[in-house]
Amino acid sequence: MIPVKTAAEIRKMREACRIAATVLHKLCEFAGQGVNTYDLDQEGKRLLQSYGAESACFQYQVGSLIYPAHTCLSVNEEIVHGIGDLRRVLQDGDILTVDVCVRYEGFIGDNARTIAIGEVSPEKAFLLEATEKALYKGIDKARTGNRVGEISNAVEKFICARDLGIVRDFVGHGVGRSMHEAPQIPNFGPRKRGEKLRPGMTLAIEPMITLGSPRVKMADDGWTALTADGSPSAHFEHTVLVTDGEPEILTIPDLSS
Ligand code: MF3
Ligand code: CO
Repeated sequence: MIPVKTAAEIRKMREACRIAATVLHKLCEFAGQGVNTYDLDQEGKRLLQSYGAESACFQYQVGSLIYPAHTCLSVNEEIVHGIGDLRRVLQDGDILTVDVCVRYEGFIGDNARTIAIGEVSPEKAFLLEATEKALYKGIDKARTGNRVGEISNAVEKFICARDLGIVRDFVGHGVGRSMHEAPQIPNFGPRKRGEKLRPGMTLAIEPMITLGSPRVKMADDGWTALTADGSPSAHFEHTVLVTDGEPEILTIPDLSS
């Protein structure tokens, strides 16, 4: 069963998501040539604290593994869950995925985007543009009465037409008091699959797309997921509220703060 949030819970989700988006926005401004990803993560920690929020990733546990960083920073062939590293200095032509998942007063906001560092190849630019557009294709299906599969199928159709790879090992998810709630939201699959959406559901929709094969391998750190063939990968994510009408993106930054 996909949880439906009360009006009070939705107010809290809005606040958590606004902070997540504002921190993401500011981190993307901080990133650039010559910046290392450890410093970027530390800036993320500082920004989260300045809003009275905490990282939902920090010390997140899967089995015996504990995530050591405050944000997920994934460069080039890294798909998701990269860990900031002093030695990883961003270079002209890199693409960087910044994923910010915050907890604020008991609620989670989750969002990510991939940005170009300096001037990137036309192929990488195409990958970024297509992945962001695929996210919006998915978001547009987050409507009352649609099944979860409508979102999955819209992303898949858009990406397949562009001959890019869809990562299957990681999926979008419901989000609320926990980072990962029902339902799972794959970026592929038939339209009629999954539960029907209802007003008050909050979903993290997040296509992860590759220029080559979407096959995944894990780094020795146990967290960083990379493309098996070394091809570049992009990831865009928003937290979205299902309403009576248009889908509402909750992860919109507050640029006045
Ligand atoms: N936004 C990421 C996700 O939904 C956050 C992962 S935190 C980590 O998977 F600890 F697992 F890295
Ligand atoms: Co997520």
